[in-house]
Amino acid sequence: MIFDPVPKESRKDFFDREEEIEKIKSLSSPITLVLGLRRTGKSSVIRITLSELNFPYIYIDLRKFEEKGYMSYKDLILELQSEINRLIKRFPNMMDFIKRVEKVKIMGNEVKLKWGGEDRVSVSSLLELLNDWADDRVILCIDEAQELLNLRGANLLPTFAYLFDNLRNIKIILSGSKMGLLYRYLGKDDPKSPLYGRAMNEIELHSFDREKSKEFLKLGFNEININFSEYDVVYENLGGVPGWLTYFGYYYREKRDLNRALSETIDTAIGLIREEFNFLGG
Ligand SMILES: Nc1ncnc2c1ncn2[C@@H]1O[C@H](COP(=O)(O)OP(=O)(O)OP(=O)(O)O)[C@@H](O)[C@H]1O
Ligand SMILES: [Mg+2]
Repeated sequence: MIFDPVPKESRKDFFDREEEIEKIKSLSSPITLVLGLRRTGKSSVIRITLSELNFPYIYIDLRKFEEKGYMSYKDLILELQSEINRLIKRFPNMMDFIKRVEKVKIMGNEVKLKWGGEDRVSVSSLLELLNDWADDRVILCIDEAQELLNLRGANLLPTFAYLFDNLRNIKIILSGSKMGLLYRYLGKDDPKSPLYGRAMNEIELHSFDREKSKEFLKLGFNEININFSEYDVVYENLGGVPGWLTYFGYYYREKRDLNRALSETIDTAIGLIREEFNFLGG
């Protein structure tokens, strides 16, 4: 359903964004950036891309570390560990490759990655493993990657630069709802940054304009057989951020009351802004 309030996994429930998805799928640089404000559809376009490309992938979402305010090396390694174990289940031959990586313990059909002190596994050795293992391509996707700014005890930028220059089989997709922070993290235009001068495949998801917003709502309401015509009122109150239009449609379907659905959506949007403001110490 179009108004399903979760990230979409396929184009069946997804409206528009064909060009953006094609551009992400081109993987035309070792690093792809998917940028856009909250609720513009970043996680959805990434999931759709991953499912359509059908390459093995690792997907980690760093949003949960936003609240925590920092991320330890252990946090990162445990995220990677659970994704690697998921891949091993699907591709048992990966075990033969990962055995060769230092600081990895094999326990039955699973691996444990060491994360402590001197004895910790390096992210670059994991990426090399993935690169050697891949027949074709393998994708490392980090959702809300600006949280890497708060990663303690490790710097991934030299690793990313090494990957960019040498590991042909791995493509990285980074998403960020805080564009400024993500750019600052990557230091793309900072001559002192390891990633300086690397051209990236950049996609920005913008809000829908009035026409697109109307088309989107129309499609959603048609699908659930609800007569609706107040498109302009919705656009004037909510703007064209797809996630808020989705929320509105979902809520309207439940309550069938325009004003309640509008104010409920606005309250939720304000709640999100307030929450982000608190993270900044406001
Ligand atoms: N083009 C679209 N067609 C249908 N639904 C969409 C579209 N874009 C976004 N949505 C819906 O809007 C909501 C937000 O989308 P999604 O979670 O993909 O965005 P996001 O940018 O990752 O959000 P956040 O910044 O909160 O992580 C979801 O419910 C999703 O299904
Ligand atoms: Mg998201």
